[in-house]
Amino acid sequence: MSYEAEWRARFGEETEPNPDLPDLPWLRQVLMRRTHRRYAARPVPQALLRLLLGTAFSASSKSDFQQASVIRVRDRQSRDRLAALVPDMPWIGNAPEFLVFCGDAHRVERIGELRGHINENGKLEGFFNAAIDAALVLQTFILSAETAGLGCCPISVIRNHAGAVAEILGLRDKVFPVAGLCVGYPAAAGHVSMRLPLEVTVHIDHYNDGRPAEAIDAYDRRRDSRYSLPREQQRAPDLFGYSSFYGWSEDKARQAAQPEGEGFPTFLRKCGFSLD
Ligand SMILES: Cc1cc2nc3c(=O)[nH]c(=O)nc-3n(C[C@H](O)[C@H](O)[C@H](O)COP(=O)(O)O)c2cc1C
Repeated sequence: MSYEAEWRARFGEETEPNPDLPDLPWLRQVLMRRTHRRYAARPVPQALLRLLLGTAFSASSKSDFQQASVIRVRDRQSRDRLAALVPDMPWIGNAPEFLVFCGDAHRVERIGELRGHINENGKLEGFFNAAIDAALVLQTFILSAETAGLGCCPISVIRNHAGAVAEILGLRDKVFPVAGLCVGYPAAAGHVSMRLPLEVTVHIDHYNDGRPAEAIDAYDRRRDSRYSLPREQQRAPDLFGYSSFYGWSEDKARQAAQPEGEGFPTFLRKCGFSLD
């Protein structure tokens, strides 16, 4: 079975047709998946949304602790307040549905109280497990929604305003936003974002930092040949200048060199995490 077209779309590389591979349309769909930030006015049917939340919460969960919570933001005023926190991402206010996926280290403590076995879930272990559970529920929701013809955009920048988000959504101590999620029927086809080759991201037996420079350079060129970032999209030229060739790695190196999420540790400590 051949996944050549989808593989090329995702990695910009050729792959051999292999007759031994089963034909699994869902895998084709995942290879072709993409984030959507513009949505048709068509509402998401409520029964479908509930079904998708059910499939999302079918994700694996560390120790079956089930430490994710989702806030569905229905109130227009709350949505507008969330959207106003990030004015350069209008899709937060415009999407037909907006969900906030939270790590929930609170509920296990509450269950301990109910059962009379007090636990303290604010250490790094509790935070990490809750964050992972929320991320798995988030991604399972996204893939489920895409299967149903919807488009999604996760929104982690809300974490840069975690205190305000917690206040708007009435979050309890030890409940923290991992990401928002815009959901709706896509208004445009969008495009597949090319990924690093598996020779960079998959390691056999031992971690191999081998020759990433060449592989990443080749990846930059493949990506650029499909879509070149225009000069005006070069990040922070006042700090870094303009590059004659501006690829993914230059963009990500510039992005990572600028601080983000600096207030998040303070927010987490304030809401009860010791992170020990
Ligand atoms: C945890 C997470 C947070 C993200 N946060 C944002 C965000 O705040 N705003 C946004 O527009 N896109 C956000 N995205 C979408 C990514 O930019 C997108 O997934 C990435 O560019 C790859 O594109 P693709 O999903 O179409 O393959 C986020 C994605 C993830 C997984």
